[in-house]
Amino acid sequence: MSNLPSGNRDSFSSKFGVIAAAAGSAVGLGNIWKFPYIAGVYGGAAFLFVYLAFILAIGLPVMLSELVIGRSSQRNAFGAFKVLAPGTPWRYVGILGVAAAFLILSFYGVVAGWSLQYISLSIQDGFHSKSPDEITSLFNTLIESPIRPVILQLIFMVLSAGIVIIGIKKGIEKYTKILMPLLVVILIFLCIKSVTLDGAKAGLEFLFKPDFSKLSADGILSALGHAFFTLSLGMGTLITYGSYIKKDNNLVNTVINVTVADTVIAILAGVAIFPAVFAFGIAPSEGPGLIFITLPNVFHQMPGGYIFSILFFILLSVAALTSSISILEVVVAYFKEEFNLGRKASTILATILISILGVLCSLSMGVLSPYEFFGLNIFDLMDWISANLLLPIGGMFIALFVGWYFGRKKVQAEVAQGGTMSGAFLSIFMFLVKFIAPIAIAIVMLNKIGLLTF
Ligand code: TRP
Repeated sequence: MSNLPSGNRDSFSSKFGVIAAAAGSAVGLGNIWKFPYIAGVYGGAAFLFVYLAFILAIGLPVMLSELVIGRSSQRNAFGAFKVLAPGTPWRYVGILGVAAAFLILSFYGVVAGWSLQYISLSIQDGFHSKSPDEITSLFNTLIESPIRPVILQLIFMVLSAGIVIIGIKKGIEKYTKILMPLLVVILIFLCIKSVTLDGAKAGLEFLFKPDFSKLSADGILSALGHAFFTLSLGMGTLITYGSYIKKDNNLVNTVINVTVADTVIAILAGVAIFPAVFAFGIAPSEGPGLIFITLPNVFHQMPGGYIFSILFFILLSVAALTSSISILEVVVAYFKEEFNLGRKASTILATILISILGVLCSLSMGVLSPYEFFGLNIFDLMDWISANLLLPIGGMFIALFVGWYFGRKKVQAEVAQGGTMSGAFLSIFMFLVKFIAPIAIAIVMLNKIGLLTF
């Protein structure tokens, strides 16, 4: 889809292709690495429930909004606003998206690099007969080292760039059809093993028994930011993908399928991780290393753990790849359109620039760790600014655009082409994008900066 000259717009061939590509983008490190890690930091169940509420009230309507904008404009994220709202500042929403893509991919590639390293460690049986403490220090030594994680990150970036240059359609469809279900199967096995460990109950309580008094303004903002991050919303990825969706596709079904798949996979990851976290005496608030430290302990004790471990980290890396290409695509499309570069040149330029920032992110785990901004190292800073600031603000403008500028009639016309949307459903959707989503986002942000407290 992406390697065709503009003017000859490709589209997804099948209904499944659409869901596959959008789900391939949505399901990634966000679900398996980031969700358990931040749920652990922000106290577990209360975070989970707030996150689920944001997915329903904000994620679903914003996802439908992005697809509607993309399919009706037949453009990428910037072009879309230019076509639908010519001569207005709306196109700056696209610029915000490029900035977010840049920052996200810089740290995303680092984590994907760790995952590549864990494929190799699994093959070498590198966790065998190691204690939980030794597994922890294995991870810390890796990420603090100045060379290896940088090289792995660059390998991952080159892989992503290669796919974006060659064209992403076929690879994604195939991956999603076969490998994503396999990822789910492995996660289910991991969950079974994890919940049958001694001491597992505390982990399930941590994940599912909310104590809302523990929830901080930071936790609420992170739940909001993560709802955007995990569904690939707020920066135009799904505007671009929406533009490749055929007119007879039922957008509402697509949105529901992708959201359910994404959410189920995140919860499975949580069930695989937290019981084991408690069973092995790991701190739930361990941070970005949580899955890399917890899962090797589980594989260790599982029949067939050697094979599971290799397969798991391969699938995690592939899931990261189908997400990273959707992020890179946003930057590439921007360079292509705004600077009139070819696809290949745009991809190479974008990859180089992002990788430079990525190297800094990787080094900020070790040699550059003394450099902090607002108390965060470079890696955490990129994550924080993109997920907690740029994506929610982007999402807010996307909701406002569809609610107030694009309007009910056009939404109805676009959605009705491939499906039916009852008047009542449309009214709920319009109410969510006009009022609930933007107001909720504003309240969460004001609450965080202390201008509004409860
Ligand atoms: N959703 C992906 C994940 O969970 C990451 C991702 C891909 C993303 N495309 C995006 C995040 C666009 C924000 C915006 O791993």
